[in-house]
Amino acid sequence: MIRRKIVAGNWKMNMNLTEGNSLAEAVRNETLQIKPVKTSVVLCPPFIHLKSVAAILDGSPAMTGAQNCSHEKAGALTGEISAAMVKSTGAGWVIIGHSERRTIFGEDDKLLRKKTAAALEAGLKVIFCCGEVLPEREKNIHFNVVRTQIEEGLSGFTAKELSDIVIAYEPVWAIGTGVTASPQQAQEMHAYIRELTRELFGAGTAAEMIILYGGSCKASNAAELFAMPDVDGGLIGGASLNAIEFGNIIRAAEL
Ligand code: PGA
Repeated sequence: MIRRKIVAGNWKMNMNLTEGNSLAEAVRNETLQIKPVKTSVVLCPPFIHLKSVAAILDGSPAMTGAQNCSHEKAGALTGEISAAMVKSTGAGWVIIGHSERRTIFGEDDKLLRKKTAAALEAGLKVIFCCGEVLPEREKNIHFNVVRTQIEEGLSGFTAKELSDIVIAYEPVWAIGTGVTASPQQAQEMHAYIRELTRELFGAGTAAEMIILYGGSCKASNAAELFAMPDVDGGLIGGASLNAIEFGNIIRAAEL
């Protein structure tokens, strides 16, 4: 089964409007040069950038996504942004359950399931994040942690809904630390996740599920990570803030 690769950039809370537009223009130019054929490219800037970045990327192979969305459709929820609002900017994607949302903002599996449902209902595709913290890996319970996150977050969605979801495995000990999971560690967990999706959703969904790796993925290690049979691309934080570096990660996915 040849799955499409995805390279998604998570800008996190970086870049003012001017800086964001310049970065988006530089990424646009990179993608126009690379002309990816096997890889979808998604930029996930802060909400305030979504409209201008979508306009800049228009006509290029890259598209936009948000880093989060509300679990509700509308109402008295000061400071929240709904999935439909995200969609109305031209975005096609949203990241749900990033470890920073889970740990810093206390988003639990139940809420993340609601957010995923809200995003799908609004017509967005979802990058659903999972991953263990270091003490969980040291205690050797990382597989169970990821299993619970996926079971609680994604159980009950239909095969059609699941075809609009990709899973990003991001070991928290590798995020922003410069410590990357080895290709073998990534492959081992990705294979586990694929087997789990087979158990939960069936063989068809499992074979088609795109599973991204995230955590200190950069141009110098992307090719060996993406060469693993169950690693279908990456969710890139720090290295997505530099267009040349990000472009080289897209090139690695095209190999
Ligand atoms: P990093 O972040 O690439 O800076 O480690 C990845 C992520 O948090 O999505």
